Amino acid sequence: MSKKIKVAVVGVGNCFSALYQGLEFYKDHDEDAEGSTIPGVMFSRIGGYHPADIQIVAAFDVDRRKVGRPVGEAIFAHPNCARVFCEDVPDGPVVQMAPAMDGVSEYMANLPEKYGFRISNEDVSDIDSILKNSKAEILINYLPVGSQEATEFWVNRCLEHKISFLNCIPVLNINHPDWETKFINEGIPYIGSDMKSQFGASILSQMLQELAFSRGMQVDFHQQLNVGGNSDFANMVVQSRLKHKKVSKENVIRAQNDIRGIPVDEEALFAGPSTFIPYLKDNKVAYFNLHLRGFGDAPITVDVKLSVQDSENSSGVVIDALRYLKVAKEMGIVGCLRGPSAFTQKSPPKQLTYEQSYFECEMLAERKLTEITERQIDKQSAIDFAWEEYNSGGMDYLRLVGM
Ligand SMILES: NC(=O)c1ccc[n+]([C@@H]2O[C@H](COP(=O)([O-])OP(=O)(O)OC[C@H]3O[C@@H](n4cnc5c(N)ncnc54)[C@H](O)[C@@H]3O)[C@@H](O)[C@H]2O)c1
Repeated sequence: MSKKIKVAVVGVGNCFSALYQGLEFYKDHDEDAEGSTIPGVMFSRIGGYHPADIQIVAAFDVDRRKVGRPVGEAIFAHPNCARVFCEDVPDGPVVQMAPAMDGVSEYMANLPEKYGFRISNEDVSDIDSILKNSKAEILINYLPVGSQEATEFWVNRCLEHKISFLNCIPVLNINHPDWETKFINEGIPYIGSDMKSQFGASILSQMLQELAFSRGMQVDFHQQLNVGGNSDFANMVVQSRLKHKKVSKENVIRAQNDIRGIPVDEEALFAGPSTFIPYLKDNKVAYFNLHLRGFGDAPITVDVKLSVQDSENSSGVVIDALRYLKVAKEMGIVGCLRGPSAFTQKSPPKQLTYEQSYFECEMLAERKLTEITERQIDKQSAIDFAWEEYNSGGMDYLRLVGM
């Protein structure tokens, strides 16, 4: 077992800022004598790995205020606005220039400096050499929503260099068996797609829906409106980039109906980013409204407001997902990790209940195989498994995004 988990990152934005600060913040924290968890972290150890074992070895971006600077400085550059909770971070690797492709919309390029992206005029770095020399084992995709072409570029780099992939963004076709087969053939695991934060709007929607069904309720309507002031919210003002994001957010709620065979009426749910409010910075606020019917058809309404720091909340799952990927690779598990994807992402290849996904994660953390992961040790069996799930309708959301 190699001690460190070597990680490369594309997109040195707010989520990465929180993760990088967190790695420093938690480096000296450990379980107490009774083995209780580190406060703020879901699992202290996963397969023996502690958050401090994660090491950032390469970073890529396109913004001129970040490229050419050590990540320890770049994470504090505009338009990043994540809370600074650990100022004294190591320099780390220098941010390298990535191909811009479809990462930066015209809208983001034209927003004021403080909120928008500014593409550097540096030449694209020699990405293959950098990845090879860095010995990166996992790449995190933190590109802006709508980066379809750029995501596929980075997936191909991972396949070429046999690097595991953590797809934190809603580019949903990466879950399709055609893509999964490519990962399987290279003998690497991945997790995707679109982060479901530690205690964010998606997991709260999921739990409200699960709770309603488990108490015999009928859910007539479930609304989740989100506002925020970071560049992720600014980027999502551009409707044409949003298709996958909205499907992915609604998918979290819809999945709990699908798992139980309960139909979803056309107007029964709405989940999505509503607008960009610069004053909020990295504070994301979500408003939930549920219309339920219970005993005797009695109406029940639920109104909830959730206010979080968006980026730290996302790091709470990334810090685990990286360790699941490392352990899975060591165990020879290939393809998309079903349990960790359902636990840490909005749109996994197969949606599970909270309990099922937690069980899969616990087993992996203890390096034990389950009925699912047993099928992902042998390459042909993993490919057959991916198609069986796909054909049984587990990825209907791909049809919603026209794939
Ligand atoms: N809780 C959360 O924050 C959360 C939850 C789920 C999903 N996500 C997703 O994670 C992703 C990252 O979120 P964020 O808040 O860090 O976004 P961000 O806007 O702060 O960062 C994006 C970074 O990507 C860079 N970039 C743009 N085009 C690029 C390219 N072609 N190559 C390399 N870098 C490029 C930008 O310069 C910026 O540094 C987003 O897609 C977001 O929707 C975030």
